[in-house]
Amino acid sequence: EKQNIQVAIDGPASAGKSTVAKLVAKRFNYVYCDTGAMYRAITLKAMHNNVDLTDEATIVKMLKQTQISFTPGNPVQHVFVDDTEVTEAIRQPEITNSVSTVASLAGVRKELVNRQREIANQSNIVMDGRDIGTAVLPQAPVKIYLIASVSERAERRYKENIQKGINTPLAQLKKEIEIRDQKDSTRKVSPLTKAQDAVEVDTTSMSIDQVVDEITKIINQTIK
Ligand code: CDP
Ligand code: CDP
Repeated sequence: EKQNIQVAIDGPASAGKSTVAKLVAKRFNYVYCDTGAMYRAITLKAMHNNVDLTDEATIVKMLKQTQISFTPGNPVQHVFVDDTEVTEAIRQPEITNSVSTVASLAGVRKELVNRQREIANQSNIVMDGRDIGTAVLPQAPVKIYLIASVSERAERRYKENIQKGINTPLAQLKKEIEIRDQKDSTRKVSPLTKAQDAVEVDTTSMSIDQVVDEITKIINQTIK
C-alpha cells in the first residue's frame, strides 16, 4: 500500500513557514495544513468567552466541543471556528501574543495533535508548526527546520503588518517575537526544537522563491 508523503516544516515565529509551506503544497499538489491556525483558533474562542488562558480543564472541554476547519483560499486559506470565519481575527496582535500560553497546555496539544494526525492520514500533506517533525509526524520522510535571524523575522512581520494597516514599532515586534520563541522553546510539552533528522534552512538572506526551490529539491531527492 502506498504511504502518503508527509512534509513537516517547523521553526520559530515569522521564519516564513506558512508562506513557503503553502507554495510547496501547491507545487506538488499536496494538501497544506497550518497547525498554528488551530492553536490561534482555540485561543480566540477562549478569549471571546473570557476564559482564563491558564485554565486547562475549561479550555480543553471547550476545544473538544469546537470544530476548527479550513477551506482553500488565496492568498490565505479560510479558517472557521464552528460556523464563524476567523481567518483575519486569529491574526490580530492580541491573539498572536496570547497563543503561546494556550499552546503550552498539555490537554490542548493532545487534542490538536490527534486532529492533525487525522488530517495527515488522509492525503499527501505539507504541515507547518513547531512540533510537526518532533511530535505530530515523527515518521515524516521530509523534515525542514526553517530559521532566520530575529532582526530579519521582525522586519518581515513589520512589512506584513504595514500591509494590513497595523503599525507596531519594529523594536516592539522584535521583542514580541523573542518572547514567543522563548515560550515556545521552553514549554514542557513538545517544545520548539529541530528534529534530529530535519534539514535546517537558514532563510535570512533568501527570497521566498529560493526557499521554495530549496525545499522542492529536498522533497524530490526524498521521493524519487
Ligand atoms: O505564523 P506565526 O509564526 O506567527 O505563528 P503560528 O505558526 O500561527 O503559531 C502561533 C503559535 O501557536 C506559536 O507561537 C506556538 O505557540 C503555537 N504553535 C504550537 O505550539 N505548535 C504548533 N504546531 C503550531 C503553533
Ligand atoms: O509562518 P511563519 O510565521 O513562519 O512566517 P510567514 O507568516 O509565512 O512569513 C512571514 C513573512 O515573511 C511573510 O510576509 C513572507 O512574505 C515573508 N518572507 C518569507 O516568508 N520568506 C522569505 N524568504 C522572505 C520573506
